Order: sequence, then C-alpha cells, then structure tokens
Amino acid sequence: MRIPDSVIDEVRSATDIVDLISATVALKKRGKNYVGLCPFHQEKTPSFTVSAEKQMYHCFGCSAGGNVFTFVMETEKVSFIEAVRELAERAAIPLPSETREDQAQATEHEGLFAACRTAGLFYYENLVNSVEGKLALEYLRHRGFHDDTIRKFGLGYSLNSWDSLVRFAEQQHLDLSVMERAGLLARREDGSGYYDRFRGRVMFPIFSVSGRTVGFGARRLREDDPLGKYINSPETPIYNKSRILYGLSHARDAIRSQGYAILVEGYADLLSVFQAGIENIVASSGTALTEEQILLLARYAQSITLVYDGDSAGSKATVRGVDLVLEKGIEVKVAEPPAGEDPDSFVRKEGREGFQKLLDNAVSFLDFKAKLFQQEGLFSNPEGKSKAVRSLVASIAKMPDELKRNFYIKMVAEKYDIYETVLFRELEQLVGRESVRRTYERRQVPGTTATGQPSEKPAREASAADIPAPERDLLRVMLDQGPSMVEYIFSYVNPEMFTHPMARRVIALIESRGESEWDHHTLVDGTEDQTLRRFIADVLFSKYELSKGWFGRGTEPEIAEPREVADKSIAALRIRGIERLLAEQFTLLKSAEGRGEQLLPYHQRIKQLQQERKELQATRGRPRLSAE
Ligand code: GTP
Ligand code: MN
Repeated sequence: MRIPDSVIDEVRSATDIVDLISATVALKKRGKNYVGLCPFHQEKTPSFTVSAEKQMYHCFGCSAGGNVFTFVMETEKVSFIEAVRELAERAAIPLPSETREDQAQATEHEGLFAACRTAGLFYYENLVNSVEGKLALEYLRHRGFHDDTIRKFGLGYSLNSWDSLVRFAEQQHLDLSVMERAGLLARREDGSGYYDRFRGRVMFPIFSVSGRTVGFGARRLREDDPLGKYINSPETPIYNKSRILYGLSHARDAIRSQGYAILVEGYADLLSVFQAGIENIVASSGTALTEEQILLLARYAQSITLVYDGDSAGSKATVRGVDLVLEKGIEVKVAEPPAGEDPDSFVRKEGREGFQKLLDNAVSFLDFKAKLFQQEGLFSNPEGKSKAVRSLVASIAKMPDELKRNFYIKMVAEKYDIYETVLFRELEQLVGRESVRRTYERRQVPGTTATGQPSEKPAREASAADIPAPERDLLRVMLDQGPSMVEYIFSYVNPEMFTHPMARRVIALIESRGESEWDHHTLVDGTEDQTLRRFIADVLFSKYELSKGWFGRGTEPEIAEPREVADKSIAALRIRGIERLLAEQFTLLKSAEGRGEQLLPYHQRIKQLQQERKELQATRGRPRLSAE
C-alpha cells in the first residue's frame, strides 16, 4: 500500500527527532547537536549524535544513521510503511485512503485471503467432523499430534472428491474465479468449470508473518494417490514461496526471546518440535533457503540452528544455501540427529530435553562442512584436501566480521593441520574480492553480533571517512542543497570522476530521481538499502574537511558558503583527474623515448595539462569549463 510522499513529508516534519530519540536514549546537548550512548552498539563514551537542525542521527562508532523513520525501523525491526504508520499515529496525522489502484489491489488481496481462510476452515471441518476425515484425524493422532496442535496450526483434510470445495464455495456464494486465483481450485481443461486442486490429503495451512492463511501444503494419505508426497499451492499474489517460512507467525516471539531460530525441513518436523515446547522453529518446506527468507529471519534473530536429517540429501542442498546466510553476518550452526532419525522422530523419542541437548551440541557450520568433506573422503588425498580447504576458506570469506574470520581460519588450520599463513593468503585473496562485491550489495546490520546483541567492536563499513575529501564534500553539499546544486556540480565534473563506490551509489540514487524534487530525507526514505542510508547520514554529519584547510584556520566549516565548498571541491577533483592524465602521459613519454619515437606530441600534451592544472590551482575553485 502506498502512502503519498506529501503525507510522508508531513509525518516526518511533525516528528521531532530529538523528541523521538530521547524517549529511549538519554541525550545531552553538545554544541549544536545532541549526543548519547548508541542504541545500536555497546559503548561507554557517547558517539551517537542527533542533529535537530538536520533531523538526522548518526553514530560515529558504528555508522548507524538515518532519520526518524529509519530510527523506528531499526530499533523496532519494522518496515518503512510500518514506521510511517507508527509515527503518523503518534503525531495524530490520519493516513488518507489509498489510491484507486492500491484499493483495487488491496481488495484483490483481501479476496484471496478470504478464499484461503474459508478453505482452511472447510478443511478443518472435514478433518474433525466428517466421516471421511476420521481416517486423516486418526492418522495425525497416531503420529502423535495432539488435538491442540492440530487446532493451533489449523490442520485439515481435503475430501477425496473433485468438487467438494467447489460445491462448498457455491453454497457460500463465493466467487470461484477468486478461489482459482488463490490456488484452491483449478480450471477444467475444456474450460467448463472448476475442480478441487487438493483431494484426499492432510492439509497444512501456510501462514503469512502476520498469521493469515496464504496457501497450503497437502500431504498424501492414500497409497493409490498418483501425485507427489506433498503438493503445494501455486504462487499467488499473496503467496510468494521465496518469502515465506512455514511456522514463522507462530515462532516469531519465541525466536525473539530465545535469540535464535531453529530451521527444519518438514511440516511434520516443525509440528513435533513445537508441540514438545520448543517454539522458536521454522521450516523451509524442503527447499533451499532464499535470501528473502534469510532477511525475514534476520529481523528476529542473528543466529540460526539447522536441524536436518543426518543422512538426508537435504544436507547437500543446505550447504549451498548457507553461504548466503554467512554473508549476512548471521551465525549458522548445525545439529544432527543420529542416523536414521529426523527431527520429528527424534523429538518424539527423546522429548524436549533430548532435543535441547541436540541443539546445545550443535556445531558451527564450518565444522559441519568439514565433516561432510571428511565423510566424502576428501581429506585422505592432497588434491581433495586442497579442494576442501578452499571451499572452507570460501565460506569463511563470506563472513563480514573480521574477528570471526580470523577465529575460523585458526580453527581450520589447527583441526586439519594446515599452515595458517597459507589459509590467510587464500582468505585475503577472497576477502579482497568479496569486500569489493559486497559494497554493492545490501549488508548485515553493522554493530550486532551473531546473537543479535550489540557488540563492543562494531563493523565499521562504508564509512564516509574512507572517501576522498573532495568527493565527500561534493556529496555533502549536494545532499544539503538539493537538485540545483547537483545540476551546478555536474556541469563541471562528470559522475565518473567520483572513484568511491559508495559515492557513486549516492549519485546513482540521486540520478534515479530524475526531474523530481528531493532532499536528503526523501532520498533516505526512498532506498531500502540500509548501508546506503547509513552512508548518507554519515556524509551529512561529516565536516567539510578539504575546504577547512582552504578556508584557513578557525573558519567553521559548517558555515562555509556551499557554493564555495562546491567550487573548491570541483577544482580538487579536476586537478586530481589532470594529475592522473599527467602521470599517464609521462609513462607514455618514457616508453616512446625507449623506442626512439617522436616526443613532441607528448611534451605538448603534458604542457597543456600542466597549464590547465595551474589555472585550476590559481582560481582555487572558480573553475572554467575547459574544452576537454
Ligand atoms: P512426513 O513424511 O509426513 O514426516 O513429512 P515431512 O514433513 O517430514 O516430509 P519430508 O521430510 O519427507 O520432506 C520435508 C519437506 O519437503 C516436506 O515437509 C515438504 O515441505 C517437502 N516435500 C517433501 N516431499 C515433497 C514433494 O513430493 N513435493 C513437494 N513439493 N514438496 C515435498
Ligand atoms: Mn518426516
């Protein structure tokens, strides 16, 4: 659902950032700003800074930063829209009704939700109150599921018939085409009507995070059922398989309070473990984890324990999915039930205590991976060993936390008798590559450890301090002054002259705005990328370093004339460009000399560049556009 930008602006200006943050963080006035202990990492001296003037916050310790919306998003782990709603309510600003398109979509979605809900109730009724359903109910009870669990998870039974749901829907005057779009009915091939998609199966409703039924998993009961063991609802506008984890709506609170999530493969596994009293559990429904599922889980916990059947093919698929998790800075452990057992059978045998012990003995993902290699016999020959080691180091390289990487390298070295230096060299190569790639991607929440606790030593990524001063000053002045300043600056320099990847991303974000008006708030609100948002806040809180020197000592950079800052930084950027060209020309000159070629063209070009540089230095930021 969309909320118009004007209303978002209204909510933002109605919410004072100092007010908002003081409710949870003790702030003291210092100069123009307020400072306090950062809520995003543990610290003893305050480096968390709030600016009333900019209506932004920034932590110089862990790079957290943003505006009122991101503060709510990051402290309460909610979406942007949820943050806007919350602050709108706080400011007593009514959110207007949505656009017609939104309304149409919302209506369509509501219809699909209603269809799934109705079907779920129908299946449940079949299970507990029909003659045919007795068999299914017996089956579930026989497997050890309590009636209470069956009710809680809304299990059901679809009658072994082609039209029982069709007829029920007709009686209820439901729109069959909506039931079809919800994935419950299918259209007959000759187009003459609909038939039930699920027949004679135990039904597992699949819930959204907020607990609404969005689809079903359906387990075979009859031996003569020709279809797979499980069939699932197809993707629908409300059921996106890569974004759903089975059981999350039931497990949410327990995951939060336990600080970690247990991940199993099957519906039955989840139900048995949950029923035994271990409720921080979700199921992947037999597929490899997706990035979206990981981000979903990361909202509640920074640590995941996988419990898969020891000898299932699942472990292979798991290994592939896990590197993705490591990249997000999430800690992954693996607990393996004894051979022949799955979480379901294991917890029924050993109970809650046994299962808890299994969890307590979970090993790090790296250990697990190494063990798999060992089982495959890779460590028994040099070739296999180096292959295994490379794969292990590749996983380690995905970890954003340097301390953790070093720890695991040491562990692998010790355990598998490999020189540490060899591993570190391999790691350095990979990390170099990784970190370059990672700056382009969304990242973990810096400043949290695997357990979700704020850490003492937060990862300081994408900090504005690493960016060349003229680039930073130009970004700062663009973010402060908005579109007209951007236009001015880019009439003198082009975006390629910015070398820092984050600077380029900010520029790309600005360019994506096209002709429309923006300011630093709307930029921050318009990007889902937390790293980018934080970087923008960081830049806004940085001082005009470069210009400070140029303006002479004692000049408060804050009161620097924006245009002057821009001019001087433009000059610096262009001088830097010219110096690169000069260096290039000197190299060319040298090699031409070596070959005994004509040198005059090089000398001419060098002279011309030197002249340009001199002019730029002399004007110190009254750059004229040269005919380059
Ligand atoms: P039980 O056999 O009743 O114990 O079910 P389970 O949930 O333990 O299933 P199993 O361990 O065999 O598979 C794990 C998960 O993979 C299931 O819960 C399903 O989500 C999924 N799955 C298994 N078989 C199939 C299949 O044939 N088709 C599809 N689409 N998914 C399947
Ligand atoms: Mn099973």
